[in-house]
Parts: sequence; structure tokens; C-alpha cells
Amino acid sequence: MSSSDMNIITVIGSGLIGRSWAMVFVSGGYSVKIYDNQPGQAAKAITEIRKQLEELEEAHMLRGELTATQQLALLSCYDDLAQALEGAFFVQECVFEHLDVKQSVFQDIDRLVGKDVILSSSTSCLVPSNVFSKVQNRSRCLVSHPVNPPYYVKLVELVPHPETAASVMDTTHSLMTKVDQVPVRLKKEIDGFALNRVQAAIIAESWRLVQDGIISVKDIDLVMSEGLGMRYAFLGPMETMHLNAPAGLEDYMKRYGEGIRRILTSFGPVPDFSGGEGAKSIVNEMCELIPSDLQHLSARIERRDQLLMGLAKLKKEH
Ligand SMILES: NC(=O)c1ccc[n+]([C@@H]2O[C@H](COP(=O)([O-])OP(=O)(O)OC[C@H]3O[C@@H](n4cnc5c(N)ncnc54)[C@H](O)[C@@H]3O)[C@@H](O)[C@H]2O)c1
Ligand SMILES: *[C@@H]1O[C@H](CO)[C@@H](O)[C@H](O)[C@H]1NC(C)=O
Repeated sequence: MSSSDMNIITVIGSGLIGRSWAMVFVSGGYSVKIYDNQPGQAAKAITEIRKQLEELEEAHMLRGELTATQQLALLSCYDDLAQALEGAFFVQECVFEHLDVKQSVFQDIDRLVGKDVILSSSTSCLVPSNVFSKVQNRSRCLVSHPVNPPYYVKLVELVPHPETAASVMDTTHSLMTKVDQVPVRLKKEIDGFALNRVQAAIIAESWRLVQDGIISVKDIDLVMSEGLGMRYAFLGPMETMHLNAPAGLEDYMKRYGEGIRRILTSFGPVPDFSGGEGAKSIVNEMCELIPSDLQHLSARIERRDQLLMGLAKLKKEH
């Protein structure tokens, strides 16, 4: 089979994110070959995916047009990298978040695939120019950064290496759209990409407000979940502003821009998240609400995923 058929995708690494990508790609009708360097791990992943697909079908939350059985038939597992890559037009890497591991994985893949195959990394915290520094042809490389859990949270940040070809960004954008994810393009690489930079800003100010004795841990979370978050599931900060003044964004900035600038200049320094009494007391306050043992955390994670499933359903209807 030649890669020009464009129906086979290889997923490298079968942990949490590798399994999620495999489920997303088979939901769009692609054949997915899963590889893991731990012998037997890829096969275990398929067993786990089978269970999840059956549960999703039962809950009427299975993505795509195919049944769970049809989607499962598109999956195969490999302990051999060369075999796993045969015939693929797109490779999604999901191994440990260690620069040297990713660099050596991509060096191996680069040697084994044809020249038109796209190499995509799931990295959350590493920039493409580092991840792909050992690849010969970097024009075919990019980061496709998912959000956990990708099955319900559809955003994918496409981040180019300085040498990435425009056609590689375009093909990946179409692929992600085809499997019903929501891709966004970064025009250049930057530490944290877009999502984690915005998230870091929110974390920093929330932390400072609690540390400075302005608000409790419980209440700052409510500010987001019952306030800003209500809008943010459907509109971003730009449209929010555009709709909040009679004549749109320009009008909004005339009315509120000065106030926003004043608040911004009062923000404190970057917090010390793990040092000192301040940090300890924030952690304690959180753990009083939700103890950090496995049982309590798993229950809350289950609840989060159920809620996200409901929200995904709601968004589909709108
Ligand atoms: N977990 C998240 O919330 C999240 C969100 C977005 C992106 N990511 C990124 O996705 C990637 C994977 O994260 P995860 O949470 O799935 O990790 P994980 O630890 O669950 O899975 C990693 C898998 O990769 C395999 N592996 C390790 N080295 C390998 C190699 N050389 N070749 C083949 N397989 C190898 C491991 O055996 C394991 O099965 C990371 O880069 C992470 O930053 C994670
Ligand atoms: C490099 O990758 C691009 C994009 O996939 C491809 O078009 C080009 O032919 C490749 N060049 C070489 C020398 O392999």
C-alpha cells in the first residue's frame, strides 16, 4: 500500500493520549496502526479502547458514522516500528514528554518513512524547533497539541517548526477537521503555545488572589466555573468583548480599555508556586475540599469527564 492512499495513520506511544488519538482517528474512518516500544503495550491499548468504544456506543456518545465494531476493525497493534509505519501518510507521536526521547523517536521515524509522510508531535511543553532538531527533513514536521481528554475537548493547536511547509499545515488542518477535531493554527512557535499561555495567566492571577487573602480557593474556582466559564464554553474573550458594548469591540475598548490597563498594571509578580507557607496553605485549602488521595481524585476525574461529555453533547446541538 502506498502512502498516497492517505487512509493509514500511525500512532506512536499508546498511553493516555495515544489511545485518545487512535479513537479520534478511527471515528473518522482512518485505519490506525498503534506502536509502543513496551512489548505488549499496544495490544493492551486496543483492549482498553474496545472497552471505551463499547461504553461510548452504549451511552450514544460514540463519535463518527461507524459502529464500535467497525471502528475496532480499523485498529491494529505493533511492537515493531518499521511495520507500524508501513503505508502511513501521517504519524502522530505520543511518547513520554522528554526531549531526548522525542528527538530519538523522530530520528528513527524519519529514516523509515517516505518523503511525503507528515510527522506530528503531541508535545504539550516542548517547541517544534527542539523536538525535530534531529530530523533531516523538517519541512514535514509540526506539533499537533491536543487537550485532555481529546475525545470531548476538540481543540488541537497546530504549531509549525520554522521550516514547516505551508502544505503540511494545510493537510493536517484538513485531517483534523475531517475527524471532527477543531484545529487552530499558530503562525510561529512560542513556549506554551496559545492555550497554555492563556492558562498560565489565569493560574497566576487566581493564585495571587488567594495568596493575598482576597478570596478563597473554593470561591476563585466558582468565579470561573459559574462566571467566566459559562461564556467561555461557547465564545472566546474577543467575541465576549465585541458583544459587551453597544457598538462592538472598538466601543468596548473606549469604555473599558483604561480600566483593564489599570487592573493589569496592579498585577503582582510571578508567584512562587511551590515555596513557602503561602503555597502550602493554598494546597491545604484545596485538599480540604478534595483530598489528594487516588480515590477522591479518580471520582472527581470521572465527574469531570461525565460533565465534559454532557457539554460536548450540548455543543453538538448548537
Ligand atoms: N496527558 C495529557 O493531559 C496531555 C495533553 C496534551 C498532550 N500530552 C502529550 O502527549 C504525550 C503523551 O502523553 P501521555 O499522557 O499519553 O503519556 P503516557 O505516559 O500515558 O504514555 C506514553 C506512552 O509512550 C510509550 N513510549 C515511551 N517511549 C516510547 C518510545 N521510544 N517509542 C514508543 N513508545 C514509547 C510508553 O510505553 C507509554 O505507553 C506527551 O508528550 C504529553 O505531553 C498529554
Ligand atoms: C521534505 O518534506 C516535504 C513535505 O512532506 C516534501 O514535499 C519534500 O519532498 C521532502 N524533501 C525531501 C528531500 O525528502
